[in-house]
Amino acid sequence: MIDLRSDTFTRPSPAMRQAMATAEVGDDCFGEDPTVRELEARVAELLGKERALFCPSGIMANQCAVMAQAEPGREVLAEARAHLIHYEEGSLAANGGLALRGIPAARDILTSDEVRVALRPPSPYHPVTAVLALENTHLDSGGRVMDGARTAELAEVAREHGLRVHLDGARLWNAAVALEVPPAELAAPVDTVMVSLSKGLGAPVGSLLAGPARVVERAWRIRRRLGGQMRQAGIVAAGGLFALEHNLDRLALDHRRAARLAEGVEALEGVRVARPETNVVMVDVAGTGRGADELLQALADRGVLLVPFGARRIRAVLHLEVDDQGVEAAIEAFEAELG
Ligand SMILES: Cc1ncc(COP(=O)(O)O)c(C=O)c1O
Repeated sequence: MIDLRSDTFTRPSPAMRQAMATAEVGDDCFGEDPTVRELEARVAELLGKERALFCPSGIMANQCAVMAQAEPGREVLAEARAHLIHYEEGSLAANGGLALRGIPAARDILTSDEVRVALRPPSPYHPVTAVLALENTHLDSGGRVMDGARTAELAEVAREHGLRVHLDGARLWNAAVALEVPPAELAAPVDTVMVSLSKGLGAPVGSLLAGPARVVERAWRIRRRLGGQMRQAGIVAAGGLFALEHNLDRLALDHRRAARLAEGVEALEGVRVARPETNVVMVDVAGTGRGADELLQALADRGVLLVPFGARRIRAVLHLEVDDQGVEAAIEAFEAELG
């Protein structure tokens, strides 16, 4: 099977498993797991932040970061299609007492004008907006990249209005590789940032939030409140350290393969594909007369797995378990169905 459903399907390689099996561990609740500490220090350094905190998932790291900067009753702004709004079980509302408001971006990535218009003048009758949450890469638009200049502009507008800025960077690594800049450059304008190890980097578990020490200290308590504190977590942290060392630069290969898949599929009658900027390919099949679900089943029967994105769109995500041959085979399966 060529599994293009998501980069979260990646499994640890034998070498990663070996690093995990031999990791030095301790009780992380007491700050005594050397491998977790090493991972947190490494990620803080890569993101140019004072401290980082290891969490079991991106959803929890997003919550810890945002809730550390916004008390219950406050409002959080995010792009209307943000993961934080649509895929996180309303966790910020349920666990943090926060109101979420989406700002539609006309061209996928928010502009400073769009944020400025959405910000209300101070009033005793409106909730106080506390955080602007950004997303890079932006998953719903097909892994689009936000550059450092746009991030800085958005952060500036938010700060003018007294907001903190959080960045959901589940795939910030992909953005950095696509732009050929260090991840720290993309994280520099924001207060806190979340990054995942369990997506394109291929580690089995974990995301981190990073930011100023005083915010991360508050986030530590929130992680504990959410039940996300782990004990000998060095076993999984070792997978993350291995991933950062071996699988970061190779993300460029996934981007190249995504471009090849897009090119191959776009050549088919009735198919429209936006040029991928990273590892995500959105395929619009409306012009083929085929429905997404039915086509996905036919492709699965040919050994290629993808997911629907609405009734007429399907999504492919490239990752380290799909090589050049896998991409060619996926194109052939599309050709056999739609050619
Ligand atoms: C953009 C984005 N943010 C956050 C998350 C949440 O990460 P996790 O699944 O580790 O909770 C995901 C997961 O796919 C994601 O794509």
